[in-house]
Amino acid sequence: MIDLGEKIVYQIYPKSFRDSNGDGLGDLPGVIEKLDYLQGLGADYLWLTPVYPSPQNDNGYDVSDYCAIDPRFGTMEDMDRLIAESEKRGLKVMLDMVFNHTSTAHEWFRKALAGEKEYQDYYIFRDGTGDQLPTNWQSKFGGPAWEYVPALGKWYLHLFDVTQADLNWENPRVREELKNVIRFWKGKGVKGFRFDVVNLISKPETFTDDLMGDGRRFYTDGPHIHEYLKELTGDTGIEELMTVGEMSSTHLKDCIRYSNPEERELSMCFHFHHLKVDYRDGDKWSLMEPDRMELKRLFEEWQMGMQKAHGWNALFWCNHDQPRIVSRLGDEGKYWKQSAKMLGACIHLMQGTPYIYQGEEIGMMNPHFQEIGQYRDVESLNYYGILLEQGKTEKEALEILAARSRDNSRTPMQWSGEDGCGFTEGTPWIEAARNYGEINVRTQMAEEDSIYHFYRKLIAMRKEKAVISKGSIEFFMQENPDVLAYRRRYQGEEVVVLNNLTGKEAAVLAESVWCGYEKILGNYEDSRTMEGAVRLRPFEVLVLEKRGS
Ligand code: GLC
Repeated sequence: MIDLGEKIVYQIYPKSFRDSNGDGLGDLPGVIEKLDYLQGLGADYLWLTPVYPSPQNDNGYDVSDYCAIDPRFGTMEDMDRLIAESEKRGLKVMLDMVFNHTSTAHEWFRKALAGEKEYQDYYIFRDGTGDQLPTNWQSKFGGPAWEYVPALGKWYLHLFDVTQADLNWENPRVREELKNVIRFWKGKGVKGFRFDVVNLISKPETFTDDLMGDGRRFYTDGPHIHEYLKELTGDTGIEELMTVGEMSSTHLKDCIRYSNPEERELSMCFHFHHLKVDYRDGDKWSLMEPDRMELKRLFEEWQMGMQKAHGWNALFWCNHDQPRIVSRLGDEGKYWKQSAKMLGACIHLMQGTPYIYQGEEIGMMNPHFQEIGQYRDVESLNYYGILLEQGKTEKEALEILAARSRDNSRTPMQWSGEDGCGFTEGTPWIEAARNYGEINVRTQMAEEDSIYHFYRKLIAMRKEKAVISKGSIEFFMQENPDVLAYRRRYQGEEVVVLNNLTGKEAAVLAESVWCGYEKILGNYEDSRTMEGAVRLRPFEVLVLEKRGS
């Protein structure tokens, strides 16, 4: 079994990582160029978001062939080379499996549209007339979750874009086809899988209107989800590999089952509750100051809940769907460096497996796009229209997108201060953030005290200290609204992590909190004297180790 607590996963969004041929789109040879960098950082696994043939309506999450490479990204030979070159450097490749839906350009869907009953049963079709939606469910990208096909007199379900048709997991043939996809990539030497929105695959037996919401309560962690995951894992032998499920609007009790090794489902789960603490009334498109007390409560609930029942957390702030964390919970100005480091330490020292999303390790920020023409993402473009329809002004709608768009994390990786930021010699498919002159890999590697070097220390610490990779966790100072404080323990060793989540110097720690401990990592350059009561500076993180432990 893999020692999950010792591993670090680095997420690559290939389209924005490194363009090797000047067409403005990142590609697999570009990833290969950067393997030394990834090894130097200390990553163990590289998770690549989809590089399969796709119309790219949802940047590759609309897959039209699961067992091939989209020419935009390269060839199958490039993928083979990437796997082999990674292995040489002790890096393992993890691929993204988008099994809740296929693109409507997939052969299966095309056959379904051509009238083949067998393939219609691969999807979720409902008979009906064009004026009567089967249910009132909403797509996660806005608008109804059903699309009518007049020629067939049927509707099909799409929980995401209209070109992403949901698969019918009730059909054993569908399950078998998807297992074959896993077998194919496993045979190529892929060592891990990330399963896209996998807790949405099991739909209810009957479809009814949701009078309380958008339909998600009927299919989230659905009726047969645990059976399906056990079957998929068992029949493909991926239990020995690294697997992570992306769990949308999920529940702790289900995530325990998904990730408890005895259940033989997955290694770990992504959940997103801690990334909704700045959604007003749970609405992503309604801005609010982050509720830090709620953030603390959620970390404690999930860390303690998973620990108690032997589940396992994926630890992350950033991915290709989330705005940059330093722009969101940190500070883009004076405390940029401190806040990026504090946020990194805050999750890296918890119990679980940390994930780093490209650019997070150099403190990349949201690009602050000013015009709708700068956006590319289907969700952002749809919601821009929806926000205007709701009566927002263009300025208001753009402000919301600037904070919430998924494109915030999809801008080119900032490798250097040169034109094209070291990402491309051509015109990038999406504009880079303007600050690439100052914030880039080259400057971060050169500066001793940089965010990049701090991330390397965090990674090294996890590998050196069993108390971080294996230790228990408990939280304290729960009533303090500013400080997230936790303690890790393992075989007599003890480490305390104190994170000032705010930009003010507010939290005063009683001597009893740290007395008898020694500082082993922090994000302020000067050495602090640990005498008397300690006041945490803005966004300060202190990592303390019990003396003699
Ligand atoms: C996941 C992916 C996201 C995609 C969606 C539909 O949430 O991370 O990028 O749009 O699933 O596949």
